[in-house]
Amino acid sequence: MRLLLAPMEGLLDADLRDVLTRACPYDWAVSEFARVSGTLLPHRVYRRISPELQSGGRTRASVPVRVQLLGSDPACLADNAAHLAELAPPGIDLNFGCPAPTVNRHRGGAVLLDEPELLHRIAAAVRAAVPAGVPFTAKMRLGVADASKAVECAQALAAGGVEGLVVHARTKLDGYRPPAHWVWIARIAEAVDIPVTANGEVWSEADWRRCCAESGVADVMLGRGAVADPFLARRLRAHGGAVDRDAEWAELQPLLALFWRRVRERLLPQHSPGRLKQWLNLLRRNYPQAERLFREVRAARKPPEIDAALVRHGIAAAALPLAA
Ligand SMILES: Cc1cc2nc3c(=O)[nH]c(=O)nc-3n(C[C@H](O)[C@H](O)[C@H](O)COP(=O)(O)O)c2cc1C
Repeated sequence: MRLLLAPMEGLLDADLRDVLTRACPYDWAVSEFARVSGTLLPHRVYRRISPELQSGGRTRASVPVRVQLLGSDPACLADNAAHLAELAPPGIDLNFGCPAPTVNRHRGGAVLLDEPELLHRIAAAVRAAVPAGVPFTAKMRLGVADASKAVECAQALAAGGVEGLVVHARTKLDGYRPPAHWVWIARIAEAVDIPVTANGEVWSEADWRRCCAESGVADVMLGRGAVADPFLARRLRAHGGAVDRDAEWAELQPLLALFWRRVRERLLPQHSPGRLKQWLNLLRRNYPQAERLFREVRAARKPPEIDAALVRHGIAAAALPLAA
């Protein structure tokens, strides 16, 4: 049973990856995508998306971070993947799931799921360009408007040399609306002979159990559920049990403080409060303490206002042991 941490552009950056992988031991994480369109991206682009590349491609808690590419031109993707491979990432992943109109207009992400033959050419070109020792995977949705080509797309990627496939069990048109159609993952897993990982709408242990039962696969990638419930993966590995939210909140406090310190160091003052609020907004689904803190900082615009609220909630002091 493998548990992976999903790529989430604009939500799960290296700062949050750092704290979430301290909270739970994931088998690996995938970075946000680097968009490839016509040029050779400089190494600094990958180092920005995955600063982990400067420390062996691993988070501080030693979780490998595979780097994701998005594009549609096989030769250009292959050249970029070879260039990326020089940085020795723990793996290279291709994105066939992004539903964003700006990305799709330039023929990137989920729109390519209408063209299985192109997926095959992309996978084969990238596989040939990347050294055999670098794990090469892809992440796909079920299709553009429906799932009629889902199996064909998965087979095209596998035949092209992709070594593993994460299936986000929704179409592009589904966006992020529940439900996720996990039963399609079972159909795909039956049709290819590479490992298939299930993804989509796993927020709790109960979801995870249903997802594994309906998809028939044991490996799951967690996205928003991992951000909203940072100890979920740990509980899943322990096969459930009682959830003590108060004890978890106490454990989470230093991680929140660490995250806030990193964000405050790295971002402009006008941007940092939004990042903390974004995380709290998901955490409050599970922690009443996060709900109270969120309400207090909701209107805050300046970092010192956030600092003061964290101190009031006993969070800044809790950060001290984790200073790193
Ligand atoms: C804000 C956001 C950004 C995302 N960015 C990426 C991305 O860069 N690459 C990718 O393959 N998927 C991306 N996804 C999709 C997630 O990896 C995942 O497939 C999706 O959220 C479903 O899983 P979940 O229901 O567990 O969140 C993104 C999702 C969200 C919500």
